[in-house]
Amino acid sequence: MTVRVAVAGAGAIGEIVARDIYPDLTTVALTAVVDPDLDRAARVAKHNGARAAAALVDVLDEIDAVDVRVPHHVHAEVALTAIEHGKHVLVEKPIATTVEDARRIVDAARAAGVVLAVAENYPHLRAVQDARSLLAENAIGRPLAVRSTRAYQLDGVWRRDWREGTGPAGGILLDQGTHQVSLIRQLAGPVVAVSAVGSHETLALTLQLESGITAQSLLTWQSPGTWDQTEATVFGETGRLDVVVDYEQHLGGCALWTPDRNEQRGAENYYASHASIVNDWATAIQEHRDPLVHGDEGLADLAAVLAAANSLEENGAFVEVSPSRRSA
Ligand SMILES: NC(=O)c1ccc[n+]([C@@H]2O[C@H](COP(=O)([O-])OP(=O)(O)OC[C@H]3O[C@@H](n4cnc5c(N)ncnc54)[C@H](O)[C@@H]3O)[C@@H](O)[C@H]2O)c1
Repeated sequence: MTVRVAVAGAGAIGEIVARDIYPDLTTVALTAVVDPDLDRAARVAKHNGARAAAALVDVLDEIDAVDVRVPHHVHAEVALTAIEHGKHVLVEKPIATTVEDARRIVDAARAAGVVLAVAENYPHLRAVQDARSLLAENAIGRPLAVRSTRAYQLDGVWRRDWREGTGPAGGILLDQGTHQVSLIRQLAGPVVAVSAVGSHETLALTLQLESGITAQSLLTWQSPGTWDQTEATVFGETGRLDVVVDYEQHLGGCALWTPDRNEQRGAENYYASHASIVNDWATAIQEHRDPLVHGDEGLADLAAVLAAANSLEENGAFVEVSPSRRSA
């Protein structure tokens, strides 16, 4: 069965996935594009011959699932409306802007028996999967520390407006922090406490992990924007692993460095992961299984960045991430 999807939100990422991702996938049919800005919805819908609508309730009879690409502070409202009507949901990161809303989404999806996936890219990227396999085969010995950076330019396609500052969308912490926590969790496991210093434009996080090791993450969206990328390194007892994810070209990948082994694996463009995200969600619906990044994972990422937000208010004091909000 092909999953009939409405993309909710015809802004920057809604247009990218509708134009570049949906037409190539056989598991999904983009049936409707929903946006209160009907002109925008119509522009995006034309890529797939889909119907444009101003409200989700107008298309519920024609769809099986909703792909939520709206601003952060609207995620919960749209996801819960879809779930209440028995629709499967793929929701952009961060899953919501409060732990309470995220828990409500996860619980509602479970009660309704629908598949809930979070559009978090890192678990889908080959560079990250390669790093995880090398870590699983003990290629660098016991991990000792992790560091990551995410530097990019917010202006341009990802225009500032609702993303900015301390508003309901949470600034860089909710926009990029959830990505970085996800990446660190993929490489080194659950986060138990976080300290954060900086501003809502540039931040340094220190994360204490359940394994006992420490991770550091630097986030900025004030870089010149000529080379948008994420980097992470896991330092181990016998070597190091570098993960580089490029946003524009097919550079980067995973590199292993030890005294007697050096391997460079796979280069991949970040946006290619959106095909895997949508396809995995659709296949999970068809096969009645969990998606790769289920709601609890999104909740774990959110809980860690909200602990960081509290830490920012407390001059960088470590703030515990509640155990019930964690996931490996
Ligand atoms: N995973 C990624 O790689 C990635 C990349 C970019 C953006 N995002 C996420 O995607 C989401 C959207 O970001 P964007 O840059 O496309 O935002 P945007 O502002 O460009 O677009 C958002 C769109 O949602 C519409 N909208 C608002 N309320 C709505 C509702 N109730 N129903 C339907 N549409 C509604 C707006 O009119 C707007 O057109 C954010 O959560 C962001 O974090 C993820």
